[in-house]
Amino acid sequence: MKMEEHAKHHTKNKQENHSIKFIICLLFLFSLLTIFHIQSFTSDSSSYSSSISKAFFPLWRRGVSSVKKQSTIMDSTVDKLRQSVTFLPLKDLRFSETAMTGNTWFMSSLNDTHDKNEAEYMYFPSEASQGRLLCLKGRDTKDGVKNSYALAWKESLPDSAVLLEGLTFVSDTYFNHDNLWHGVSAVAPFVRWSMKNGCLRPSRWVLFHWGELRFKTGSWLENLMQASFGDVKVEAFNKGDGPYCFEKALVMRHDTGEMGVENKLKVFDLLRCKGRKFCGFNQVRRRIDVNERGAPIIKFTLLMRRGSRSFKNATAVTEIFAKECAMVEGCRLDVVQSEDQSFCDQVRVMSNSDIVASPHGAQLTNMFFMDRNSNVMEFFPKGWLEYAGLGQYAHHWMANQSGMKHQGAWWDPNGKDCPNPKDELECFLFHKDGQVGHNETYFAEWTKKVLHQVRLNKLAEATKDQASVQQPAPNVCAC
Ligand SMILES: *[C@@H]1O[C@H](CO)[C@@H](O)[C@H](O)[C@H]1NC(C)=O
Ligand SMILES: *[C@@H]1O[C@H](CO)[C@@H](O)[C@H](O)[C@H]1NC(C)=O
Ligand SMILES: *[C@@H]1O[C@H](CO)[C@@H](O)[C@H](O)[C@H]1NC(C)=O
Ligand SMILES: *[C@@H]1O[C@H](CO)[C@@H](O)[C@H](O)[C@H]1NC(C)=O
Repeated sequence: MKMEEHAKHHTKNKQENHSIKFIICLLFLFSLLTIFHIQSFTSDSSSYSSSISKAFFPLWRRGVSSVKKQSTIMDSTVDKLRQSVTFLPLKDLRFSETAMTGNTWFMSSLNDTHDKNEAEYMYFPSEASQGRLLCLKGRDTKDGVKNSYALAWKESLPDSAVLLEGLTFVSDTYFNHDNLWHGVSAVAPFVRWSMKNGCLRPSRWVLFHWGELRFKTGSWLENLMQASFGDVKVEAFNKGDGPYCFEKALVMRHDTGEMGVENKLKVFDLLRCKGRKFCGFNQVRRRIDVNERGAPIIKFTLLMRRGSRSFKNATAVTEIFAKECAMVEGCRLDVVQSEDQSFCDQVRVMSNSDIVASPHGAQLTNMFFMDRNSNVMEFFPKGWLEYAGLGQYAHHWMANQSGMKHQGAWWDPNGKDCPNPKDELECFLFHKDGQVGHNETYFAEWTKKVLHQVRLNKLAEATKDQASVQQPAPNVCAC
């Protein structure tokens, strides 16, 4: 009896417990349903939730129908978000006058992230994008206004969007990805960003020039990027007309921009290391070679061009350098035709040079493959000093940012004057592709001075080196 009463009491308690459990259960199911609905925004499974509701007791219908109402509201909100994704032209003509200076016309509505001494960048999704992904639409190769961009949440990507997974590097440059100097300037900030972020590699590149889509880089840059990041395809957006949204995207649109001197040096140290390794030159720093009498070898490379900005008389120029080189013990002169060289030829020639002398031109960009503190001598045709503007100092800058010594330049004073000296642009175009003469006295004195300096440095280094014998170190690239 006692037992029975106890059991009854227990049952009553049990019943109370049951109703509490029932309510908790109900609440739990409601929240479960809500979660199902939220998940169903991403995958199209509205039928899933309705089949669940059918399986429940009629009593629950009222609750379920209110959840359904809520989820319908959510569905329509997500739909509204989806509809409100707004595509803007990649190239904003309002900034066409200032594209080089202040506001960039590429994705002009979005602000860059500025980290001290780093190139400005944009990363998606991020706090700055409120967690939204970057989407791109259009494949125009002639008018950046016809291509467009938008930000969208992953749950409400625009209709028929293709989601491209992984990390995408999006590079827009005012110049181009073909020229060696401009190309490496455009990609340097990606290399730097990767160094800072655990050496991350991209899944793909997206390339723009003024918002116009580009399907490839020049082959030199392609090789350099392969050396740095391995095989990474350039996206061509050929899975339909898009839009295409990126799971993660890093956008650079100012070339090296605000990157500080030290960070530029780190980028070029890494590119040197990667390039050399890629081309089978496994020395991070060259051993100091000596000749049979113990004098340090000095490798002097005369890098020739054909056509525009070639020497008027290459034979005469070669003779001058050969004569000076012959007067310095250990000096070896190499004359190399830049156009005939593969990427790795260029890397190997530079890796083996202490001094490179060359007329102004993109081939000089390769200087960063030399050991740090190597030397550059540059030659210009007549008219450049007066009319070429700041751009003619590109290789002075390259020397500075890759740790080389620019030993000065020679501007040919002789030659035809341009017909209309007042028109600067016309004059520049008149002189731009001119040839470079020579001044035997000047070249000889200049070369003597540079060789003397290099020899003294080599001797000092050789003494240091005997203490710590240089070993080839194949695995010291920073990434
Ligand atoms: C970008 O920066 C400007 C100036 O600091 C600011 O007025 C603007 O609201 C910012 N835009 C966005 C989208 O953050
Ligand atoms: C080029 O220089 C060489 C050697 O100084 C000279 O013999 C030759 O005549 C020059 N050629 C021309 C076209 O001036
Ligand atoms: C290169 O760097 C040196 C030392 O920092 C500086 O004096 C020189 O002006 C720089 N040259 C150029 C062309 O920027
Ligand atoms: C060649 O260079 C020397 C040394 O700088 C100079 O004195 C001479 O005037 C130059 N000759 C010509 C023809 O420019």
